[in-house]
Parts: sequence; C-alpha cells; structure tokens
Amino acid sequence: MITNADVVAAAERLAGLVRRTPVAVVEPGGLSGAGWLKCEYMQHTGTFKARGALNRVLAAQAAGELDPQVGVVGASGGNAGLAFAYAASRCGVPATVFVPQTSSPVKVARLRQLGATVVQQGAEYAVAHEAALKHAADRGAVYCHAYDQPEMVAGAGTIGLELLADLPEGFDTVLVAVGGGGLMAGIATALAGRARVVAVEPVNAPSLHAALAAGGPVDVPVSGAAVDSLGARRVGEIAYQVAVANGVASVLVTDDELIEARRLLWADRRIAVEHGAAAALAALTSGAYRPAPGERVVVLACGANTDPSDL
Ligand SMILES: Cc1ncc(COP(=O)(O)O)c(C=O)c1O
Repeated sequence: MITNADVVAAAERLAGLVRRTPVAVVEPGGLSGAGWLKCEYMQHTGTFKARGALNRVLAAQAAGELDPQVGVVGASGGNAGLAFAYAASRCGVPATVFVPQTSSPVKVARLRQLGATVVQQGAEYAVAHEAALKHAADRGAVYCHAYDQPEMVAGAGTIGLELLADLPEGFDTVLVAVGGGGLMAGIATALAGRARVVAVEPVNAPSLHAALAAGGPVDVPVSGAAVDSLGARRVGEIAYQVAVANGVASVLVTDDELIEARRLLWADRRIAVEHGAAAALAALTSGAYRPAPGERVVVLACGANTDPSDL
C-alpha cells in the first residue's frame, strides 16, 4: 500500500518537472454527463507514466541508489518504457529498456530517440521482464516497474492532488482506465475520503475485475484494441490492496465502445487519444457507468500515443 503522504512527497519531488495538465470544463449535456476532462495526454512523453517514472528515478537519486554510469532499467515496449527513458535523460543517467522481439519498430525507434539502449529479448513481455530484473541485479541499475512500485503509483497520484486544487468547487467521481492499476491506485490514494474513483477496463483485459472477483490478483488473458496500454496480465499487488481498501469498483467496456469514445473525443473536441485512454469516457458513453443525478464526474484522458490516421 501507499499513503497520501507518499503522494504528497511525490508532488514535492516533481514540482516544476512535470506538466500541471489542464482540466477542461465540459458544458452541461456534453460527453454523456462528464463534468470535466483532465487532459493528462498533454504530459511529457504523452502519458501520465512520466510522473511515476520521474518520481522513481529522483527518489533513487536522493537515496544515493542511482549509479550515474549504470542508470535505470525497465521492461516495457509501451508508454512506461518511454517514461523510463525520459526520466533517465532528465536525470542525466542512461536507461536500458528491455522489450519483446515483437515490439513495434515505431516504439523501439521512439525509445532510442529518447536516448535509451533498447534490448529486444523474448517473444513475450514476461521474458523481457525477467531480463530486466537480471540486468538490475547484475549491474546495479535502478529497476523501474511499469505499475507495481510505490514511487510509480505515488507519482500517478499527483494527478489526484492537482484535481483537488484545480476544482475547488468539488467533484464526486473520477473515471480512470486500468491496466496494471498503478494509475487508479495513485489517484484513489490521493482522493481517499474526498472523491471516489471508478476503474474502467476493457472486457478483453479485466485484470482488476478478475482480481476483485477472485479475492486477489490472478492472471487473465488479454487482447483487443487497448492491449498495448491496458493489457497487463495481472493487476499489481498495490493496486489490488488500494482498490479493496477504498471500495474501488471496476466497470467493463467493449472494444467497440472504447473505439467509439475515442472517435467522439476527436469529432466533438478535436482531442486525439490512444485507445486505452478513451476507456474512461467509454464508461459514460456506453452506460457501463451511470452517474446519479447531479453527480459531478471527472474523466481522465491519460494518453495520446496513437496513430491519429483512423480518427
Ligand atoms: C495511456 C494509458 N492509460 C492507462 C494505462 C494504465 O495504467 P496502469 O497500468 O497504471 O493501470 C496505461 C498503462 O500503460 C497507459 O499507457
């Protein structure tokens, strides 16, 4: 578990280093009852992951654990990998990112652009993950986990603190997309006792839903349009514990529903987000989550690393 104090410490560490992303007001009747959009897709690297990654690397540096020659290591062919590379370069240390051999050449090129050493290993994520852990143990690199590490979760939680400060009129609910659950756990911790978080997952990648039903994290099969961002096979331990402690429910949306929500954001607002980031809005537009009359709802739009040509 993490505490509110961890999120506050992350906010202090990140002050001036991450973007305070804007909150857009949705006019009454717009976007199926959303009151506001938190525009986190405007964050460095295009997603919220930059917050947690930078928090992780800065905390390791402050603790004297960051060897400037060896730097950091992580496994991810997606947004977390970009964030690790970005955070390392901001701190002036090298990053090694292990990705499966199946990773898209575009993502590998983007990682290299951000200065990371990319090692393609194994057919699946699990193999890259093992290789990253071994690299950390052998070389003494600071290991960064994509979602199940206190600093990653607390960094993401700073979004919740910004909402509390930027919406002094108050709000009731925040809809948050879940992959491994780090984003949800951070925001739920930041907002505990102030507002509720509702987790939104694709039907094809229901890691939190399955964990809540089973009484603990379990492996689930993952596939679908948002698999590159929400396709964690197993929800994090931290996320599971925070969800249970705070009564976070998970609602499910289909691929068609999140694809439609992504198109709506473009058609209606000229906002281009990736499929995973459209899941939160899809909960409203599909009716998977129905706010009570008068309920004030924030929708988190958390990532923009997408090919907009199909919008
Ligand atoms: C755009 C986007 N949204 C949501 C998520 C889910 O975050 P988490 O794995 O912390 O649940 C991710 C994860 O990579 C992401 O890239």
